[in-house]
Amino acid sequence: MKVLVTGGAGYIGSMVCIELLNEGHDVFIVDNFSNSEMGTITKIMGITGKMVQYANVDITDRTALEVIFRSYQFDSVIHLAGKKSVSESIENPLQYYYDNLIGTVMLVQLMQQYDVQSIIFSSSATVYHPASICPIQETATLKSSSPYGRTKLAIENFFRELTAAHSNFSVVLLRYFNPIGAHSSGEMGEKPLEVPNNLLPYLMDAVSGKRPILEVFGNDYDTVDGSGVRDFIHVEDLAKGHIKALYYSMQNTGCEAFNLGSGTGYSVLQLIDTFAKVNEIDVPYHIGLRREGDIPVSFADISKAQRFLGWRPNKTLEEMCIDAWRWQLKLLKEQHVEAQIVFPSKKTV
Ligand code: WQD
Repeated sequence: MKVLVTGGAGYIGSMVCIELLNEGHDVFIVDNFSNSEMGTITKIMGITGKMVQYANVDITDRTALEVIFRSYQFDSVIHLAGKKSVSESIENPLQYYYDNLIGTVMLVQLMQQYDVQSIIFSSSATVYHPASICPIQETATLKSSSPYGRTKLAIENFFRELTAAHSNFSVVLLRYFNPIGAHSSGEMGEKPLEVPNNLLPYLMDAVSGKRPILEVFGNDYDTVDGSGVRDFIHVEDLAKGHIKALYYSMQNTGCEAFNLGSGTGYSVLQLIDTFAKVNEIDVPYHIGLRREGDIPVSFADISKAQRFLGWRPNKTLEEMCIDAWRWQLKLLKEQHVEAQIVFPSKKTV
């Protein structure tokens, strides 16, 4: 199949492209490279040995995007392009609604114009009500607590209306929990261009001395050790879920949501301990205050994806930590950063 991947040079998008190419599909990447690099496309081709076509296009640039739709008859679109920082969305809701919601509407206008009837959308667990009971099912109440999350919810609602009006249209909403890790080849992974918001990138920056000590946002929650609990899923497992969603979309119409998580909750302190143990390094951290807006516990019920997509995650938390650190070390070498890593039994490197 010929698949358009928006945001295909990004952290998750690039992993999805690798899985698509490994399955023998043709991939066209559209990315504005605002939070990714063209070098990632070279890496995708290096890892898979396959050619990839791409264009430096913003999905809100309808004219440029139409040239691509006119040139190729896509079978499906995997739509990951969009802004994804909770804190940034609070400061700049206009940009978030424009890029995420209007960008998606413009993309779908072209899909309809060029008879592309299938889309897999990168949604998020952040669409669930903060008080959702865990393990969270897809039928849980939808109510997000940030402008970012509300753009995801608005797009989901837009897709539900669209499939109600167009019976031959197929939409799969993939609600990501907490993707972490890197490609097992060690050649590709997350590369935050600004100060990382998320736990693992910040943890690794603290370990390598690129940033100050990791702050654990609270240890007074009603959890196993007081720190927040999340559903961490290996980015490769997440990417494989997109392939299963693509096949499901080609066989079904309508709008269906699926959780993509590991189905298991681990605490922040458990992740820190696991990371330190499997990589044999110390993680410098201290306990700080809770972060505003954080929910204590979030982990998925993944039985619907298992049943209808035939998908289940395989990678362990240990593998997520090993793969993430392998990639971080490669990044440090590429950036010639002398890591101030304290090895318990060895000297600082
Ligand atoms: C995880 C846990 C923090 C940083 C966010 C978005 C969500 C999705 C995934 C896009 C929490 C704790 C974190 C730190 C810490 N993104 N933490 N110190 O908040 O679960 O979800 O990313 O879809 O939409 O909301 O992820 O990695 O920020 O936090 O203690 O320096 O780690 O309190 O318990 P989160 P996160």
